[in-house]
Amino acid sequence: MSKTIAVCNQKGGVGKTTTAVNLSASLALLGAKVILIDLDPQANATGGLGIEKELVEKSIYEVILDGLPAEQSLLPTKIENLKLIPSHGNLSGAEVELVPLERREGRLKEAIKPLGPLCDLILIDSPPSLGLLTVNALTASDSVLIPLQCEYYALEGLAQLLSTVKRVQGGLNRALAIEGFLLTMADFRTKLTGDVIQEVRRHFGSKVYEVVVPRSIRLSEAPSHGLPVALYDPDSTGAKAYHSLAEKIQWRQDDRSSWIRPGDSSADSRGGPDSSRGGDQGPPAVDPSESVSAPSDPR
Ligand SMILES: Nc1ncnc2c1ncn2[C@@H]1O[C@H](COP(=O)(O)OP(=O)(O)OP(=O)(O)O)[C@@H](O)[C@H]1O
Ligand SMILES: [Mg+2]
Repeated sequence: MSKTIAVCNQKGGVGKTTTAVNLSASLALLGAKVILIDLDPQANATGGLGIEKELVEKSIYEVILDGLPAEQSLLPTKIENLKLIPSHGNLSGAEVELVPLERREGRLKEAIKPLGPLCDLILIDSPPSLGLLTVNALTASDSVLIPLQCEYYALEGLAQLLSTVKRVQGGLNRALAIEGFLLTMADFRTKLTGDVIQEVRRHFGSKVYEVVVPRSIRLSEAPSHGLPVALYDPDSTGAKAYHSLAEKIQWRQDDRSSWIRPGDSSADSRGGPDSSRGGDQGPPAVDPSESVSAPSDPR
């Protein structure tokens, strides 16, 4: 059975697409069969995997709104195990077009059911909003991975996101778990990065991945070459970070998937994003009422 992970944060530019593309690629290179769904009208994941978004004819829009079978929208990528359901600018109309439809929050979930037997993992790159597309992503997923940029306002707006997660857990998708919080664009030379990392760990403890994605020129260059960083510059710090994250998530697959190599049993790397710091068991209920604030001393 495949597992579906939504990469969400309504804050713009925090590293959702970079994470969705590079985590998908790294998981695929580790041997998993992965499908990446670009659910953002900006279609950055589509472009980042080298596909001309203007030329896309069968996109996630047609899958959600026109009943196109999801299998028919799958595109190959430069990594054999990684397939993409591309996006298109017309998806920007979907937020409005979905409103009058029946079961509008569950359209994506229904549409991608046939993909389950075709892959081990489905990743969804969400748009920077908490609208119906993001709610569809959360409803269709087993878990949500939340990238947080290492900057002063990293936690701003997070209460809203967690409250949306909680609302979805309350009815549309009771099994939705927090996969983990991923710190991105860290500049380890600055005190600010250290402060933000400390603050995020204080709030979310073992749900924060040990792996922190550094600011890396290679990561920002790779999409313009239509490549995940693992192909563009596999030795870069960014590529190594996403490889480590992929290994962590691979273990979380546990017995849900057959692609974990039999015999591999380093149990201490299983569990939560940061199981070495105490681990976590099962889907946590998030408490959006928990105060989430910006780091107290940014300097
Ligand atoms: N670790 C990193 N190091 C350097 N640049 C990065 C890193 N992660 C992301 N970027 C760059 O930062 C910008 C924003 O990243 P990205 O597109 O992944 O964010 P996003 O959350 O998907 O944005 P949006 O909300 O617009 O969808 C991009 O130009 C990307 O190349
Ligand atoms: Mg994006």
